[in-house]
Amino acid sequence: MLIKKLQLKNFRNYKDEKFEYDDGINVISGSNAQGKTNSAEAIFYLCTGYSPRATRDKQVVFYGEEKATVKGVANSRFGAVEVEMSFFVDKNKEVKVNGVPVAKIGELLGNINSVFFNPGELKLVQESPEDRRRFMDISLSQLSRNYFYALQKYKKILTQRNNLLKEPDREMIFDTLPIWDAQFAEAGAKIIAERNKFIEKLAPFALSAHSFITADREELEISGDYKFAGSEEEIALQLSESLKEKREKDLELGYTTVGPHRDDIKIKINGIDVRVYGSQGQQRTAALSLKLAETEIFKDRFGEAPVLILDDAMSELDASRRERLIEKVKDIQTIITCTEPDCIPGYEKYNNIRVSDGKII
Ligand SMILES: Nc1ncnc2c1ncn2[C@@H]1O[C@H](COP(=O)(O)OP(=O)(O)O)[C@@H](O)[C@H]1O
Ligand SMILES: [Mg+2]
Repeated sequence: MLIKKLQLKNFRNYKDEKFEYDDGINVISGSNAQGKTNSAEAIFYLCTGYSPRATRDKQVVFYGEEKATVKGVANSRFGAVEVEMSFFVDKNKEVKVNGVPVAKIGELLGNINSVFFNPGELKLVQESPEDRRRFMDISLSQLSRNYFYALQKYKKILTQRNNLLKEPDREMIFDTLPIWDAQFAEAGAKIIAERNKFIEKLAPFALSAHSFITADREELEISGDYKFAGSEEEIALQLSESLKEKREKDLELGYTTVGPHRDDIKIKINGIDVRVYGSQGQQRTAALSLKLAETEIFKDRFGEAPVLILDDAMSELDASRRERLIEKVKDIQTIITCTEPDCIPGYEKYNNIRVSDGKII
C-alpha cells in the first residue's frame, strides 16, 4: 500500500496544496501550527472516514468556506485507487472511490489502509478501556468490512437493550428481553471472537517491536481480559449465560453490564502494569509498539504494509530509540511529521517536505 498523491482544498489551514510521497520515508517538517498534523489527518480520513483527532467532520472546512475536498491516489495490490472526500459545513461528507460515490463508510474501508500514531495515542496506554477498544475497532474495521458491519449492528442492539432496561413497564421488559438477548449474544460474540484473535496476533508482534526499540531492555506483554473465550459459538453461549446472570443487576442499573463494550487489553512491561506504574517514556514506547504491531498484522493479512503515519512521534524519543524506530520502519512507506527536517539523524534517503502556514515551501 503506497499513497502517491494527496490534494487538499480548503481542508483545515490548506487553501489548495498537493503532496507527493515517496515509497520509503517522508518527513513533513515545519514549525508549530503550520499544518503538519492536518496533512496527516487528511490521509487517515481517506482510509477510515474518521479523524484521528475525533473532531466533527465540518470542523475541517477552512474557516469561512463552505466545502473542503481531500483527494488521494494510492497504489495497492489491486492497482491504483483514487479516494475523494468532500466535507460541507451544512451537510454530511461525501465519499467517492475511483469516481464512484460510496453510500456507506463500510465501502470505503480497505481501499487505502493506514496506521496512525501521534502523542494523543498515549491514551491507548494511559486512559480508559474505551480508547483500547477504539484502537481494536479501527484496526479490525480496516482489516475486515464484516467486522465494521457487525460492530454497527452490535452497537444498535446494545442501545436498544439499554433503552428497554429503562422501561418502567416490567412485564414488557420480561417479555421482550429474551429476544434482545439472543440477538445481543450473537452479535456480541462476533466482536469478542475477532478481538480475541486480534490480541493474540498483536501480542508477539508488539513484544518484538518493543524489544527492538528498547534494545531488549523491556519486555512488553499484551493480553486480553478473555472473560469470554473459545469459538464464536462458544462465546455466544457464555454471553447468553452471563446476560441471564446479570439480568437483575442490569435492570437495577438500567444498562447492560456484560458484553464487548466492557472489553479491555492488559499491557505490562517487565511484568508490571504499564498504565499504573510505567514511566512516560515507557508508555510512549509501548503505544508506539502497539502501532508497529498493528502494521505487522496488516502485512500478514494483506501481504502489503499499510501507510504508517508517525505524527510528532520523534520528539518524544531519545536518540537511540529514534534510530531504532527508523531502522524498524524504513522498508515501509512512512510519513513522519516533526518540527525539524533532521529529526531522523544519520538517515539521508528520505523525501523532505517542508510546510508553512498551510503551504509547501
Ligand atoms: N478549519 C480550519 N480552517 C483554517 N485553519 C484551521 C482549521 N482547523 C485548524 N486550523 C489551523 O491549523 C493549524 C494547526 O495545524 P496542525 O496541522 O495541527 O499544526 P502542526 O503543524 O503543529 O501539526 C492551526 O493554526 C489552526 O488554527
Ligand atoms: Mg501537529
